[in-house]
Amino acid sequence: MAEVVIVRDEEAAATLVTAAMLELIRRKPDAVVGLATGSTPLASYRLLATRISDEGLDVSRVRAFALDEYVGLPPQHPQSYRSVITREVIEPLRLTPDLVHVPNGDPANIEHSAADYETAIRAAGGIDLQILGIGRTGHIGFNEPGSSLASLTRVKTLAEPTRADNARFFASAADVPTHCITQGIGTILRARHLLLLAFGPAKAGAIADAVEGPVSATRPGSAIQLHPHATVIVDEDAASQLQHADYYRHAWNNKPEWQGI
Ligand code: GLP
Repeated sequence: MAEVVIVRDEEAAATLVTAAMLELIRRKPDAVVGLATGSTPLASYRLLATRISDEGLDVSRVRAFALDEYVGLPPQHPQSYRSVITREVIEPLRLTPDLVHVPNGDPANIEHSAADYETAIRAAGGIDLQILGIGRTGHIGFNEPGSSLASLTRVKTLAEPTRADNARFFASAADVPTHCITQGIGTILRARHLLLLAFGPAKAGAIADAVEGPVSATRPGSAIQLHPHATVIVDEDAASQLQHADYYRHAWNNKPEWQGI
Protein backbone atom coordinates (compact mmCIF):
# COMPACT_ATOMS: atom_id res chain seq x y z
CA MET A 1 0.00 0.00 0.00
CA ALA A 2 0.94 3.63 -0.21
CA GLU A 3 2.89 5.30 2.56
CA VAL A 4 0.65 7.95 4.11
CA VAL A 5 2.22 11.00 5.71
CA ILE A 6 -0.14 13.28 7.64
CA VAL A 7 1.30 16.76 7.93
CA ARG A 8 0.25 19.98 9.63
CA ASP A 9 -0.30 22.05 6.50
CA GLU A 10 0.67 22.66 2.89
CA GLU A 11 3.98 24.22 3.89
CA ALA A 12 5.00 21.07 5.77
CA ALA A 13 4.02 19.03 2.72
CA ALA A 14 6.04 21.37 0.50
CA THR A 15 9.10 20.72 2.67
CA LEU A 16 8.81 16.96 2.07
CA VAL A 17 8.14 17.32 -1.65
CA THR A 18 11.03 19.73 -2.06
CA ALA A 19 13.40 17.42 -0.18
CA ALA A 20 12.45 14.50 -2.44
CA MET A 21 12.85 16.60 -5.59
CA LEU A 22 16.21 18.05 -4.54
CA GLU A 23 17.53 14.62 -3.58
CA LEU A 24 16.50 13.28 -6.98
CA ILE A 25 18.02 16.15 -8.98
CA ARG A 26 21.30 16.02 -7.05
CA ARG A 27 21.52 12.29 -7.70
CA LYS A 28 20.36 12.55 -11.31
CA PRO A 29 20.82 16.02 -12.84
CA ASP A 30 18.78 15.05 -15.91
CA ALA A 31 15.94 13.60 -13.81
CA VAL A 32 12.52 13.23 -15.38
CA VAL A 33 9.78 14.71 -13.21
CA GLY A 34 6.03 14.48 -13.69
CA LEU A 35 4.14 17.70 -13.04
CA ALA A 36 0.58 18.18 -11.83
CA THR A 37 -1.35 21.39 -12.30
CA GLY A 38 -4.16 22.57 -10.01
CA SER A 39 -3.77 24.49 -6.74
CA THR A 40 -2.47 21.59 -4.67
CA PRO A 41 1.22 21.51 -5.68
CA LEU A 42 1.71 25.28 -5.88
CA ALA A 43 3.27 25.69 -2.42
CA SER A 44 5.69 22.88 -3.28
CA TYR A 45 6.69 24.48 -6.57
CA ARG A 46 7.25 27.80 -4.80
CA LEU A 47 9.45 26.29 -2.09
CA LEU A 48 11.35 24.24 -4.64
CA ALA A 49 12.06 27.39 -6.68
CA THR A 50 13.42 29.13 -3.58
CA ARG A 51 15.63 26.22 -2.60
CA ILE A 52 16.99 25.76 -6.14
CA SER A 53 17.90 29.44 -6.24
CA ASP A 54 19.37 29.48 -2.70
CA GLU A 55 21.53 26.46 -3.43
CA GLY A 56 22.42 27.51 -6.96
CA LEU A 57 21.43 24.00 -8.06
CA ASP A 58 21.88 23.37 -11.78
CA VAL A 59 18.46 22.28 -13.10
CA SER A 60 19.19 23.03 -16.75
CA ARG A 61 19.09 19.32 -17.66
CA VAL A 62 15.96 18.42 -15.68
CA ARG A 63 13.23 17.07 -17.93
CA ALA A 64 9.52 17.23 -17.18
CA PHE A 65 6.18 15.95 -18.40
CA ALA A 66 2.85 17.46 -17.41
CA LEU A 67 -0.01 15.11 -16.67
CA ASP A 68 -2.65 16.69 -18.84
CA GLU A 69 -3.96 19.52 -20.99
CA TYR A 70 -7.33 20.86 -22.05
CA VAL A 71 -8.42 20.10 -25.60
CA GLY A 72 -9.17 23.15 -27.71
CA LEU A 73 -7.55 25.88 -25.59
CA PRO A 74 -4.74 27.58 -27.50
CA PRO A 75 -1.39 27.10 -25.69
CA GLN A 76 -1.14 30.85 -25.08
CA HIS A 77 -4.53 30.93 -23.26
CA PRO A 78 -3.71 31.82 -19.63
CA GLN A 79 -5.53 28.73 -18.35
CA SER A 80 -4.03 26.23 -20.77
CA TYR A 81 -1.87 23.86 -18.77
CA ARG A 82 1.02 24.85 -21.06
CA SER A 83 0.63 28.42 -19.74
CA VAL A 84 0.14 27.28 -16.14
CA ILE A 85 3.23 25.06 -16.22
CA THR A 86 5.26 27.89 -17.78
CA ARG A 87 4.09 30.37 -15.15
CA GLU A 88 4.18 28.16 -12.06
CA VAL A 89 7.06 25.81 -12.82
CA ILE A 90 9.32 26.58 -15.80
CA GLU A 91 9.87 30.26 -15.01
CA PRO A 92 10.23 30.15 -11.21
CA LEU A 93 12.38 27.01 -11.21
CA ARG A 94 14.28 28.21 -14.30
CA LEU A 95 13.87 24.89 -16.09
CA THR A 96 14.90 24.62 -19.73
CA PRO A 97 11.61 25.21 -21.60
CA ASP A 98 12.42 22.77 -24.42
CA LEU A 99 12.79 19.97 -21.88
CA VAL A 100 9.33 20.49 -20.38
CA HIS A 101 6.55 18.68 -22.21
CA VAL A 102 2.81 19.25 -22.03
CA PRO A 103 0.36 17.14 -24.07
CA ASN A 104 -0.75 18.90 -27.23
CA GLY A 105 -4.45 19.73 -26.94
CA ASP A 106 -4.88 20.94 -30.50
CA PRO A 107 -7.96 19.07 -31.80
CA ALA A 108 -6.44 18.91 -35.30
CA ASN A 109 -3.58 16.62 -34.18
CA ILE A 110 -5.14 14.99 -31.16
CA GLU A 111 -4.95 11.37 -32.28
CA HIS A 112 -1.22 11.57 -32.90
CA SER A 113 -0.59 13.76 -29.86
CA ALA A 114 -1.53 11.05 -27.39
CA ALA A 115 0.67 8.40 -28.99
CA ASP A 116 3.52 10.92 -29.41
CA TYR A 117 3.35 11.79 -25.72
CA GLU A 118 3.69 8.16 -24.69
CA THR A 119 6.64 7.80 -27.08
CA ALA A 120 8.32 10.89 -25.64
CA ILE A 121 7.96 9.65 -22.06
CA ARG A 122 9.41 6.27 -23.01
CA ALA A 123 12.25 7.91 -24.96
CA ALA A 124 13.13 9.95 -21.87
CA GLY A 125 13.51 6.70 -19.92
CA GLY A 126 10.26 7.09 -18.00
CA ILE A 127 9.29 9.43 -15.19
CA ASP A 128 11.36 9.29 -12.00
CA LEU A 129 9.08 11.22 -9.67
CA GLN A 130 5.45 12.00 -10.45
CA ILE A 131 3.64 14.71 -8.48
CA LEU A 132 -0.10 14.06 -8.32
CA GLY A 133 -3.11 15.92 -7.01
CA ILE A 134 -6.55 14.36 -6.80
CA GLY A 135 -9.90 15.71 -7.86
CA ARG A 136 -13.10 15.56 -5.84
CA THR A 137 -14.30 12.87 -8.26
CA GLY A 138 -11.20 10.85 -7.38
CA HIS A 139 -9.45 11.64 -10.65
CA ILE A 140 -5.68 11.60 -10.99
CA GLY A 141 -4.44 13.52 -13.99
CA PHE A 142 -7.81 13.92 -15.66
CA ASN A 143 -8.68 10.22 -15.42
CA GLU A 144 -12.28 10.46 -14.38
CA PRO A 145 -14.18 7.57 -12.73
CA GLY A 146 -14.45 4.70 -15.16
CA SER A 147 -10.96 5.18 -16.59
CA SER A 148 -9.21 1.90 -17.30
CA LEU A 149 -6.47 1.15 -14.82
CA ALA A 150 -4.32 0.20 -17.83
CA SER A 151 -5.10 3.37 -19.83
CA LEU A 152 -2.41 5.33 -21.62
CA THR A 153 -2.44 8.97 -22.76
CA ARG A 154 -5.68 9.73 -24.56
CA VAL A 155 -8.58 12.15 -24.87
CA LYS A 156 -11.17 12.08 -22.07
CA THR A 157 -14.45 13.84 -21.45
CA LEU A 158 -14.31 15.89 -18.26
CA ALA A 159 -16.87 15.07 -15.58
CA GLU A 160 -19.23 17.93 -14.80
CA PRO A 161 -18.08 18.23 -11.13
CA THR A 162 -14.51 18.64 -12.43
CA ARG A 163 -15.62 21.35 -14.87
CA ALA A 164 -17.48 23.06 -12.01
CA ASP A 165 -14.37 22.90 -9.77
CA ASN A 166 -12.17 24.34 -12.50
CA ALA A 167 -14.65 27.08 -13.40
CA ARG A 168 -12.89 29.27 -10.82
CA PHE A 169 -10.02 29.67 -13.27
CA PHE A 170 -12.26 30.82 -16.14
CA ALA A 171 -14.53 33.80 -16.77
CA SER A 172 -17.58 31.53 -16.71
CA ALA A 173 -18.39 27.85 -16.18
CA ALA A 174 -19.32 27.54 -19.83
CA ASP A 175 -15.75 28.49 -20.79
CA VAL A 176 -14.26 25.37 -19.18
CA PRO A 177 -13.38 22.96 -21.98
CA THR A 178 -15.37 19.73 -22.12
CA HIS A 179 -12.43 17.54 -23.12
CA CYS A 180 -8.85 16.98 -22.13
CA ILE A 181 -5.84 14.92 -23.09
CA THR A 182 -4.38 13.14 -20.10
CA GLN A 183 -1.74 10.61 -19.22
CA GLY A 184 -3.57 7.38 -18.50
CA ILE A 185 -3.59 5.54 -15.23
CA GLY A 186 -1.29 2.97 -16.80
CA THR A 187 1.08 5.80 -17.78
CA ILE A 188 1.06 7.19 -14.25
CA LEU A 189 1.69 3.75 -12.74
CA ARG A 190 4.89 3.45 -14.82
CA ALA A 191 6.49 6.38 -12.99
CA ARG A 192 9.07 5.15 -10.50
CA HIS A 193 7.77 7.14 -7.52
CA LEU A 194 4.32 8.67 -7.04
CA LEU A 195 3.82 11.60 -4.68
CA LEU A 196 0.12 12.27 -4.21
CA LEU A 197 -0.81 15.48 -2.37
CA ALA A 198 -4.19 16.53 -1.01
CA PHE A 199 -5.32 19.22 1.39
CA GLY A 200 -8.64 20.26 2.88
CA PRO A 201 -11.89 18.52 3.78
CA ALA A 202 -13.20 18.43 0.20
CA LYS A 203 -10.51 15.85 -0.62
CA ALA A 204 -11.14 13.56 2.38
CA GLY A 205 -13.48 11.17 0.55
CA ALA A 206 -11.26 10.90 -2.51
CA ILE A 207 -8.21 10.21 -0.31
CA ALA A 208 -10.00 7.53 1.74
CA ASP A 209 -11.09 5.86 -1.50
CA ALA A 210 -7.60 6.13 -2.99
CA VAL A 211 -5.73 4.79 0.03
CA GLU A 212 -8.16 2.37 1.68
CA GLY A 213 -10.95 1.70 -0.79
CA PRO A 214 -11.13 -1.23 -3.14
CA VAL A 215 -8.95 -0.86 -6.23
CA SER A 216 -11.42 0.12 -8.89
CA ALA A 217 -11.69 2.08 -12.11
CA THR A 218 -14.65 3.77 -10.41
CA ARG A 219 -12.16 5.36 -7.99
CA PRO A 220 -9.19 6.21 -10.22
CA GLY A 221 -7.00 7.33 -7.29
CA SER A 222 -7.17 3.80 -5.88
CA ALA A 223 -4.77 2.75 -8.66
CA ILE A 224 -1.93 4.02 -6.46
CA GLN A 225 -2.42 0.86 -4.38
CA LEU A 226 -0.97 -1.07 -7.33
CA HIS A 227 2.23 0.98 -7.26
CA PRO A 228 5.28 -0.28 -5.34
CA HIS A 229 6.42 3.22 -4.31
CA ALA A 230 3.57 5.65 -3.70
CA THR A 231 3.67 8.34 -1.04
CA VAL A 232 0.51 10.19 -0.03
CA ILE A 233 1.03 13.50 1.76
CA VAL A 234 -2.13 14.95 3.29
CA ASP A 235 -3.16 17.45 5.93
CA GLU A 236 -5.44 16.50 8.83
CA ASP A 237 -8.57 17.55 6.94
CA ALA A 238 -7.79 15.45 3.90
CA ALA A 239 -6.86 12.55 6.23
CA SER A 240 -10.07 12.83 8.25
CA GLN A 241 -11.82 9.83 6.65
CA LEU A 242 -8.86 7.45 6.83
CA GLN A 243 -9.59 4.46 9.06
CA HIS A 244 -5.97 3.70 9.81
CA ALA A 245 -4.69 7.24 10.38
CA ASP A 246 -3.21 6.30 13.77
CA TYR A 247 -1.18 3.54 12.16
CA TYR A 248 0.11 5.87 9.44
CA ARG A 249 1.18 8.41 12.09
CA HIS A 250 2.88 5.67 14.10
CA ALA A 251 4.73 4.35 11.06
CA TRP A 252 5.88 7.82 10.02
CA ASN A 253 6.97 8.81 13.54
CA ASN A 254 9.06 5.66 13.79
CA LYS A 255 10.49 5.69 10.30
CA PRO A 256 14.28 5.47 10.16
CA GLU A 257 15.59 8.78 8.81
CA TRP A 258 17.79 7.12 6.19
CA GLN A 259 14.75 5.77 4.40
CA GLY A 260 13.54 9.16 3.14
CA ILE A 261 10.22 9.11 1.35
C1 GLP B 1 -7.20 19.27 -11.92
C2 GLP B 1 -6.02 18.57 -12.60
C3 GLP B 1 -5.46 17.49 -11.73
C4 GLP B 1 -5.47 18.01 -10.31
C5 GLP B 1 -6.88 18.06 -9.82
C6 GLP B 1 -7.05 18.72 -8.46
O1 GLP B 1 -8.25 19.57 -12.71
N1 GLP B 1 -6.21 18.07 -13.91
O2 GLP B 1 -4.14 17.15 -12.17
O3 GLP B 1 -4.72 17.16 -9.49
O4 GLP B 1 -7.74 18.60 -10.80
O5 GLP B 1 -6.97 20.10 -8.55
P1 GLP B 1 -6.66 21.03 -7.31
O6 GLP B 1 -5.24 20.73 -6.93
O7 GLP B 1 -6.80 22.44 -7.81
O8 GLP B 1 -7.61 20.68 -6.24
